[in-house]
Amino acid sequence: MSDSEGRDRETRVRDAVARRRDIVNRAITEELPIKEPERLYEASRYLLDAGGKRLRPTTLMLVAESLAGVDHETVDYRSFPDLTGGRVDVLAPAVSVETIQSFTLIHDDIMDDDAMRRGVTSVHHAYDLETAILAGDTLYSKAFSILLSNGAPTDRTVRAIEILASTCTEICEGQALDVDFEGREAVTTDQYLEMVEFKTAVLYAAASSIPAILLGADDETVEALHGYGLDVGRAFQIQDDLLDLTAASDALGKQRGSDLVEGKQTIITLHARDHGVDVDGLVGDDPTTAEIDAAVDRLEAAGSIDHARGLAGELVESGKRRLDVLPESEARGLLGDVADFLVERGY
Ligand code: IPE
Ligand code: IPE
Ligand code: MG
Ligand code: MG
Ligand code: MG
Repeated sequence: MSDSEGRDRETRVRDAVARRRDIVNRAITEELPIKEPERLYEASRYLLDAGGKRLRPTTLMLVAESLAGVDHETVDYRSFPDLTGGRVDVLAPAVSVETIQSFTLIHDDIMDDDAMRRGVTSVHHAYDLETAILAGDTLYSKAFSILLSNGAPTDRTVRAIEILASTCTEICEGQALDVDFEGREAVTTDQYLEMVEFKTAVLYAAASSIPAILLGADDETVEALHGYGLDVGRAFQIQDDLLDLTAASDALGKQRGSDLVEGKQTIITLHARDHGVDVDGLVGDDPTTAEIDAAVDRLEAAGSIDHARGLAGELVESGKRRLDVLPESEARGLLGDVADFLVERGY
């Protein structure tokens, strides 16, 4: 791929996400109004209002568009044609997955001791620990009520709710593994990939399979889309691990080098350890940019950065192949572009 092809793709993805983000943001204010007790609801909305890439709701909307063969410009997402002559509110599941995303971020920042998120102070610092825990819990339960109001036949809604519930359980399992791995000497690539599948990829899988379920797609299609989400979601987390090392805090909206300070096991540190790097001695508790740069030089020299990029690229290719199950359309093309963007992004 040439540089200009990469830039064209990034422009297409940014544009597609921006158009859908505006629609999702309006729906968020409708679905999650601020009411009494105000401090709780304000804290719950605080990160949602701070921004975020909205990649999961965009993925969900693109899957729905490509299945139904509708035009983004003219379709009403609140009354979206399903595959059996009915109507479904696609914004309900789109907001639901973004609400789960925000819940996990609030609790993740408590666990990872991170003070910055989406370019603002993280919730437990901007408010307090109690409010942050409650805001996360509120978003977690609201996500289920929001998903319930999608208007699809009951059997489909029950299946979608089941997926969201197992997704949340797996995110907790993945986060537990992530924390557990901090203190461990030896973690294998398979253990890392399982942890990443649970903490991150399952939410992408939910975002890609839930619209197929709600619109009444067949099981083969639902399975393929679930597989797409798992593959690109794992690739997404590998890129997140890379960006933690290589991207400036301002661009990321979160603290660069946080994973090294916390002693996280990533595909990069696993590879580096196997290649003789003293990973635990790379940085101190409060590293300067120069210290992080030096650590990245060591990791680069060990081939660990390239190794991670290679694995992420393979996962993206595998995910994109699964999109063959969808009819050809602009939206399907964009889902392929989103997959590539997940590992090419710089923020
Ligand atoms: C961050 O996800 C959490 C991870 C799973 C790594 P994003 O990078 O998609 O965060 P936002 O939603 O854009 O803030
Ligand atoms: C995030 O992993 C996983 C979830 C939020 C469930 P990270 O801890 O790497 O995410 P960031 O880097 O803080 O966004
Ligand atoms: Mg974190
Ligand atoms: Mg974490
Ligand atoms: Mg991270």
